[in-house]
Amino acid sequence: MKKLIIANWKLNPTTLKEAQRLAGSISSKAKNTVVLCPPTIFLSQVGFKNLGAQDCFWQERGAFTGQTSALQLKSLKIKYCIVGHSEKRATGDTDEMVNAKVKSLLENKITPVMCVGFGTTVEQDDLEVVDILRHQLDIGLKGVDASKVIVAYEPVWAIGTGKNASPEHAEKISLFVKTKYNASKVLYGGSVNLYNAKPFLDQPNIGGLLVGGESLIPSHFNQIINM
Ligand code: PGA
Repeated sequence: MKKLIIANWKLNPTTLKEAQRLAGSISSKAKNTVVLCPPTIFLSQVGFKNLGAQDCFWQERGAFTGQTSALQLKSLKIKYCIVGHSEKRATGDTDEMVNAKVKSLLENKITPVMCVGFGTTVEQDDLEVVDILRHQLDIGLKGVDASKVIVAYEPVWAIGTGKNASPEHAEKISLFVKTKYNASKVLYGGSVNLYNAKPFLDQPNIGGLLVGGESLIPSHFNQIINM
């Protein structure tokens, strides 16, 4: 079955030319569905079939300096938007803000990719993880039709560290999120690379991957999207 592979470029690259070159080097005929999430400033000019934003604001317009709204993303035909990434939570985004962003995206027919996860260690067992995730999911999905939301499970200790969760652990969490919350898909993210991606994609309840650093290396990313 086709999986969904989302590239989170974060604050990379630094020029429009490089962003266009990077997008142009990603195979448009991959086996899996591919979404690129470049920095907002490049969204209108990178040119790729499926594009996502890395964040949005929950108000559509008004006196909110520096923000980008779901309504504006819709005008660029952006199909997906990441919200609640741990790097945004670290700078103040709360579960309530994430919930407001999810709602605004759905009103504008953009698929939210809601990140959940937290900064504990790999040693925590599945039940402990579920207990904490439940809090993020209960608030983040409050009053929302979760069947229209993609959830990305990203343990914070795994992001950009070269350490990843086990595919079996991620599978258990994905099954929990799907059955308890009815999310449309659950992705795994956190130090996914060419060498560890396949066992995650082989899990029946993991709907795909959210890839950071490795998505900036076309020779590697092009292999992941064809696994
Ligand atoms: P990483 O980032 O793949 O570089 O760990 C994933 C993410 O933050 O979405």
